[in-house]
Amino acid sequence: MKVLGIETSCDETGVAVYEAGRGLLAHALHSQVALHREFGGVVPELASRDHVRRLVPLIRQVLAEADTTMSDLDGVAYTAGPGLIGALLVGAAFGRSLAYSLGVPAIAVHHMEAHLLAPLLEGTPPPFPFVALLVSGGHTQLVEVSGYGRYRLLGETVDDAAGEAFDKTANQLGLGYPGGAALSALAERGRPGRFAFPRPMTDRPGLEFSFSGLKTAAVNTIREQPADEQTRADIARAFLDAVVDTLVIKCRRALEETGHARLVAGGGVSANTTLRARLKEAVAADGGQVYYPRPEFCTDNGAMIAVAGCLHLQAGRNEALAFGAWPRWELGQR
Ligand code: KG4
Ligand code: ZN
Repeated sequence: MKVLGIETSCDETGVAVYEAGRGLLAHALHSQVALHREFGGVVPELASRDHVRRLVPLIRQVLAEADTTMSDLDGVAYTAGPGLIGALLVGAAFGRSLAYSLGVPAIAVHHMEAHLLAPLLEGTPPPFPFVALLVSGGHTQLVEVSGYGRYRLLGETVDDAAGEAFDKTANQLGLGYPGGAALSALAERGRPGRFAFPRPMTDRPGLEFSFSGLKTAAVNTIREQPADEQTRADIARAFLDAVVDTLVIKCRRALEETGHARLVAGGGVSANTTLRARLKEAVAADGGQVYYPRPEFCTDNGAMIAVAGCLHLQAGRNEALAFGAWPRWELGQR
């Protein structure tokens, strides 16, 4: 069973072919970061137009690399939400039309479900059940995954997402957009302990997150302190340590409360090397194990959409010939 996956929910056009039993055959990504850079964030209309430009050449490239023709495809999976409506509609319209013309099923995939299934692309995939930490530009969630399609939201952010806090703090440090990776690189040269930021909502029970206050504390400190390189690095370090500590505390708590031993991390922020190392160490100390996608599959990509689509098809999920995209879509709903 071969599935084409299409990701167009935000600012990356991702395409991949996944085959059940064989795994990922090919994948390609076009990032729009350069296109949006001068605006300091994603411009939705520009994003949609660029997806239109990139999709057909990327699909041709990936099919050729996978040594696959259109007629070999058993399904076409696309991100149907959550995300930017115009960007989603490009993938949805294209994916649905292609599937219809080939006479194969079209599969509407939830973007966050794809992030939590992304570790299945790796050599040692996590067995169910597990707890998933989803940390991206728009979401910060802990989800109990009892099995394929069986998801229970344990907690999420009440304000900013972790990636959003990274991006806004990085912006204040003059690091451009999206700044998560650049902020982390700067933090490597920072000294721990010079600045101390809060670990929000860790002093009370529960699995909710809040990153708005932490972000504001960091942004205010950047404004008040001298702008020398060492000070900027020290602030970046303090911010990174606070975010990582907070995520580690909540993940350990979620594992303890659910009784699960396995943690899966996904979404752009899970590409962060400090977070990966600290989570791995903390969960191992509790006798558990952490599973990550490789860093390029932590951020948005077509491979996670293709593998999620393949699982949907194998599970016999059959969709009516309906067309839609849902910019706001709760995991496990619809
Ligand atoms: O999953 P993703 O590619 O897109 C969304 O679905 O939002 O996540 C993008 C987010 C951005 O906020 C970006 O700054 C952050 O992930 N990010 C990182 C790193 N790489 C990407 N944050 C911290 N460290 C990184 N290495
Ligand atoms: Zn994402």
